[in-house]
Amino acid sequence: MYFPGLEGVVIKETKICHIDLENSKIYYRGYDLEELALNSSFEEVAYLLWFGRLPSSRELEEFKNRLRSVRKPPRHVEEIVASAPPSAEPIDVLRTGVSALALGEDLSARDIEAELRRGERITAAMPYIVAAFHRLRTGQRPVDPAEAASHAEYYLWAVRGERPTPREVRALDVMLVIYAEHSMNNSAFTAVSVASTLADMYAAVTAAIASLKGPLHGGANVDAAKMLEEVGSVQRVQSWVDEQLAKGRRIPGFGHRLYKKGPDPRLRVLRLLARDLAAERGDFRWVELAEKLEEYVTSKLSQKGIYPNTDLYAAVIFRYLGLPVDLNLPTFAVSRVAGWVAHVVEYRQSNRLIRPTERYTGPLGLRYVPIDQRG
Ligand code: ACO
Repeated sequence: MYFPGLEGVVIKETKICHIDLENSKIYYRGYDLEELALNSSFEEVAYLLWFGRLPSSRELEEFKNRLRSVRKPPRHVEEIVASAPPSAEPIDVLRTGVSALALGEDLSARDIEAELRRGERITAAMPYIVAAFHRLRTGQRPVDPAEAASHAEYYLWAVRGERPTPREVRALDVMLVIYAEHSMNNSAFTAVSVASTLADMYAAVTAAIASLKGPLHGGANVDAAKMLEEVGSVQRVQSWVDEQLAKGRRIPGFGHRLYKKGPDPRLRVLRLLARDLAAERGDFRWVELAEKLEEYVTSKLSQKGIYPNTDLYAAVIFRYLGLPVDLNLPTFAVSRVAGWVAHVVEYRQSNRLIRPTERYTGPLGLRYVPIDQRG
C-alpha cells in the first residue's frame, strides 16, 4: 500500500486532541477548544495537554513558578543568540537556541519525568530567545521582565520592552491557546518521529521547529502577513487574488489537509478576536482586508475544498499586537511547543521506532563502470 503524504495514515492512538470534522469542533483532552480559548490561559492549557487534566489553582501556581524560574536561558544560549547575524530569520535563531539548550545538560535520563522537565525548560525559554534576538537585531538591549504574571505577558513585554495592556495580554493568551495543539500535523509528527528513536526532547523540539518553518505549514502565517501588506486595500483583493491564481500560485492562509468542507473551527474565535483588537485600536483596515480575502477566495476556491485557515487571522491579530511580521512564525512555535511536548510524552509511553518504508521504482543490476572509462 502506498499513501503519498501519509494522508489518512493513523500513526498512534491519542487522548490529546480530537478534531470533530462533522460538527466543526476541536477538543483538547476532551475540553472544547473554544471554551478553553475564552476562559483559560496558555499555562493552564500546557498543563492540561501534558498531564492530561486541568490543574488545581495550587498546581497551576507551582507550574507557573517552575516555568518562571527557567525563562532566562543559560548564558551560552544567550551568547549564541547574541552572535546571530541581524539578518538571520528569527525562526532559525529560535531553532538554534532550543538546540543549544541541550548543551551541558546530562541527557542520560530518558524517562517521562526527565523529558517533561526538559519540555518545561524549552517552553519557558522560547519567548526570551525570540525576544532577545529581535531586540538585539534592532539595536536594543534584551529585557527579562521578571514581574510578568503570565507567559503571554512575558513574551509581549520582552519583545516590545514595555508592559503590554491587559487586553493585549489576553489577546495573545487566546492566540497561544488556539495555536497550542492540532493533532498529528507535520511538526508534531516530526517531533514524535525523532523521539521514537529515543532521542531527547531538545532533539524532538528542534526538529519540530524546523518542520514548522515551511510555507505549507507554520511559515504560512508570515506569508499571510506579507500578503496583507501587498494587497493593501479591500479594493485590490479581487485583482490581486485573480493574478496570483492565474500565475498558479497558492494563496497563503487558505487550504488545509483536514478542512475540506468548511473553514477551520478555530476561525470562529479568531475572527472575533481580530475584530475586538481592531475596535480597540480604532483601525479596521487589516481585519476588513482579511474578511474580504476570506469572502473572495472562498467564492473562487470553495468548490475545490479551499477555505481560510488560522494563519490568515493570526496574521491580522499579530499585526494589531505590534509584532514584526517575521515574529509571527516563532510566536506560533512559542505556543505549539505545548502540543509537541504532549505528543512526545504520549508516544514514549508505548514507544515504537517510526520506520516507514517506500516503493523502489529505479533500475536494478546496473554495471559499475570505473571513473576513467566513463564518457
Ligand atoms: N491557494 C490556491 N489553491 C490552493 C491552495 C491555496 N492556498 N491550497 C490548495 N490549493 C489547490 C491546489 O493547487 C490543488 O489544486 P488542483 O487540484 O487544481 O491541483 C487543490 O487545491 C488541492 O490541493 P492539495 O495540495 O492537494 O491540498 P493539500 O491538502 O495537500 O494541501 C495545504 C494543504 C498544503 C495547506 C495547501 O492548502 C496550501 O498550500 N495552503 C497554502 C499554505 C498555507 O496556508 N499553509 C498553512 C496550513 S495550516 C498550518 O499548517 C498552520
